[in-house]
Amino acid sequence: MTKQFRIAVIPGDGIGPEVIDAALPALEAAAATEGARMNWHRLPYGADHYLATGETLPDAGFAELRDGVDGILLGALGDPRVPDNQHARDILLGLRFRLDLYVNFRPCRLLHPALCPLRERDPRTPGRSIDFAIFRENTEGGYLGQGTAEHVGTAEERQVTHEIHTAPKVTRILRAAFEWAKANGRTRITMSDKSNAVPAHRLWGRLFAEVGAAYPDITQEHRYVDALAMELVRDPERFQVIVTNNLFGDILSDLGAELVGGLGLAASANIHPGRPGLFEPVHGSAPTIAGRGIANPLASILSGSLLLDHLGLAGAAERLTAAVRADLDAGVTTPDLGGTASTTEVGRWITAWLQHSRS
Ligand code: NAD
Ligand code: IPM
Ligand code: MN
Repeated sequence: MTKQFRIAVIPGDGIGPEVIDAALPALEAAAATEGARMNWHRLPYGADHYLATGETLPDAGFAELRDGVDGILLGALGDPRVPDNQHARDILLGLRFRLDLYVNFRPCRLLHPALCPLRERDPRTPGRSIDFAIFRENTEGGYLGQGTAEHVGTAEERQVTHEIHTAPKVTRILRAAFEWAKANGRTRITMSDKSNAVPAHRLWGRLFAEVGAAYPDITQEHRYVDALAMELVRDPERFQVIVTNNLFGDILSDLGAELVGGLGLAASANIHPGRPGLFEPVHGSAPTIAGRGIANPLASILSGSLLLDHLGLAGAAERLTAAVRADLDAGVTTPDLGGTASTTEVGRWITAWLQHSRS
């Protein structure tokens, strides 16, 4: 019997609809290799919808995303016509918070050696093998937007945004990182904060030691985030799992993306283990290249692979990643990776590869 999945799709703004349109057929083809069928449920939320209706994420839409789907695939949100980013806050951050998707999982894996921008330190080494995963806390830190604004627009303006770190929420992201490391044969985990300057971050050190006590086989280390940024460029191979707060995870994930080919390839999963999740490329709406058919759809396709895996279709997820590797080997890439293919052509190549390689 065919397994059926109902997936909400929010293409969003800018290049979002372009990369999502290229990704959906590839996901369908990958799911089909495991006898599964994807039923897309396309939702209009984004800047156009907001500007036309004043609605960001209506209650009925939220209820459906919470109760009526097996997962959510999102393109990108962000539009110069909405300078305060209100719709993205309500839709993207709103879904992360309100669905309590506390793990923002952002793998940084080098799928083709030529994609790494770092010079080889040892020319005899045939290639690099960067492969680490960032576990970004996804429900608090500075992102809740709680605080005060006084004397706005005057010379005395004072803005306060609270950075919130609570023990249960820090504990659960730390545990998720350890559990993933254990389940995936990783032997080292790096926790990053800025506790030498931001007192609230000291909580992370205490809880890292407490949670880590249950994982004696995993080497546990700490890095201040400034030093980690430096070391990620100097020696990315040594990292396996990085766990950190919401803001640092955001910044480190763009750095991590660039180490393995750029934002055009970086995928993410926003999850609460055991529940439906939200899957999206790490990149934004890239307004300056929107509408030109040159956006790289691989980040969306790889986010789709994370979705398939989360749905229990591990084989299909692996096929999809294999198809991306084959595409990179064949050099069918968009201009950000040095190629001349369009967004649509990359999607079609991957879809055809999956259809023809089916056994
Ligand atoms: P961005 O990720 O949109 O773009 C950064 C750079 O990467 C740009 O040079 C862009 O052209 C390039 N780029 C990004 N994705 C690409 C792709 N798939 N193919 C080729 N090149 C790609 O970040 P930004 O410029 O800082 O933000 C633009 C808007 O997107 C803002 O409104 C921002 O708030 C929003 N944003 C949204 C998300 C999200 O929806 N998850 C993430 C980041 C930024
Ligand atoms: C990301 C984005 C978002 C974030 C923005 C658009 C709010 O940069 O998903 O990485 O900071 O989480
Ligand atoms: Mn980001």
